[in-house]
Amino acid sequence: MANQYILSIDAGTTGIKVSIFDDSALVISNASEEFTQYTPSSEKVEHDANEIWYKTLTLMKKALQQEGLNASNIASIGITNQRTTIVVWDKNTGEPIHPAIVWQDQRTADTAEFYKEKWGEKNYKTTGLVFGAVNSTLFIKWILDHVPGAKEKAASHQLLVGTIDTWLTWKLTKGRVHAVSYSNASATSAFDITNLCWYEEWLNELGIPVELFPEVRDDMGDYGVTDISLFGEEIPINALIADQHAAMFAQNCREPGHVKCTHGTGSFLDVNIGDTPVFPGNSMNTILGWKIGDEIRYAMEGYVSVTGAAVQWLRDGAKLIENAEQTEELALSVEDNGGVYFVPALTGLSAPYWDSHARGMIIGIHRGTQHGHLIRATLEGIVYSIKDFLDTISRDANVQIQSVKVDGGGSKNNFMMQFQADMLHSEVVRPLNTDATILGAAFMAGLATGYWRNVDECYSTQNIDRVFQPTIDKEEINKYYERWSKAVSKTRDWMHVG
Ligand SMILES: Nc1ncnc2c1ncn2[C@@H]1O[C@H](COP(=O)(O)OP(=O)(O)OP(=O)(O)O)[C@@H](O)[C@H]1O
Ligand SMILES: [Mg+2]
Repeated sequence: MANQYILSIDAGTTGIKVSIFDDSALVISNASEEFTQYTPSSEKVEHDANEIWYKTLTLMKKALQQEGLNASNIASIGITNQRTTIVVWDKNTGEPIHPAIVWQDQRTADTAEFYKEKWGEKNYKTTGLVFGAVNSTLFIKWILDHVPGAKEKAASHQLLVGTIDTWLTWKLTKGRVHAVSYSNASATSAFDITNLCWYEEWLNELGIPVELFPEVRDDMGDYGVTDISLFGEEIPINALIADQHAAMFAQNCREPGHVKCTHGTGSFLDVNIGDTPVFPGNSMNTILGWKIGDEIRYAMEGYVSVTGAAVQWLRDGAKLIENAEQTEELALSVEDNGGVYFVPALTGLSAPYWDSHARGMIIGIHRGTQHGHLIRATLEGIVYSIKDFLDTISRDANVQIQSVKVDGGGSKNNFMMQFQADMLHSEVVRPLNTDATILGAAFMAGLATGYWRNVDECYSTQNIDRVFQPTIDKEEINKYYERWSKAVSKTRDWMHVG
């Protein structure tokens, strides 16, 4: 085991991170870089898949070189990634035929409306995902409809489709492995999460040959080896695991009732529901957490798209702060929110409203409103947005949420975590290492190769930093929450004209 390490790649929405872990799960080398966000029109968000690939490769080499390591020092590679974003490429040239369409893209909103009545419910009960614009299958259809010659190439199976994990693996193996993990497949709206196969009936309706789709494999397992030309030696790839799922795994949310909440660009709360999917139809997504041999785990998920991104907006758009860390001190510089509420619906409202016509709003400003009130209202708004779906998800998952494990950049904010404990009336547990996403992929890659013997060995490397306990009673919570609900109601349908 000496000199052996695990290399983990986090291919996120705004950037790529590569970390090399030792057997104590400590990061010994780190390299990261942002990549270009293309927004050709207000409803479109695209990525250049080649840029993602080249930056990933460069960062892998950099992470190795800066510690004087080479391929033979790496026992295994794990990849975690943004979900739902889709790449369509030519099997023969390896070139994408269109930029990747990103999970935030709204271009297929009208198409989703068109199919909703006939397919909405059936698709939800098959895929677990609430039917809407964010749907990889509609993105693929859009590409086939708009790129000249694409339909013909699809019909003769000359194209391949994949999520970012699939694309990177295909590139790393020089086209030898075209595969996807269960976790990523379950986020595409093309996968039957009960029968564990591609949802062919729906793909037929859209005219997308199932042959273009990758082979679905266990999240932790065999994804081939890197081509020898890349690092001089082959390195095995042993885990592809979607981002929220990776964080669940890293946070030891492996049994029913376990809950984690990741505060990154958006905030995602996932409740493990065990080995059987349920489809209660109350606007929450059911996802396949992972499949590892006989271990299969499902989760219910609620999310708010813009949370850390709202803090970024305070910094870059409103220029009210210089950095995200400052928000804690500023929020604590005032006694309370001073009656100010910030609904961070900057790209619409997600669960449980799914209102893409809503927009962000700051309300309750008066002559005494201070800088600190606006900042505090932002952090409180993030927590209230989660509370909005808490009862639904708790009912759907049949779990009384009493403890939430947090991670991601925003979880470092003590004020926000205390407010979360108070408003969710639940304990909030923060680990020392809040970078759970990349750690989850590292754990899986290491477990697959025997680098770590079992999960307990993995979890024994992690320590709790702080536990936040709820301090206010339910009556007081309801008083604040009523005001919040009134604020949300005023943001609804804002963009709708006519
Ligand atoms: N102390 C803080 N208080 C509040 N928000 C913070 C704090 N520190 C960072 N953030 C926010 O957290 C986000 C960064 O966290 P993280 O690095 O986990 O996100 P990410 O990995 O880039 O996002 P994603 O995985 O969702 O693409 C930023 O949006 C930032 O505004
Ligand atoms: Mg992240």
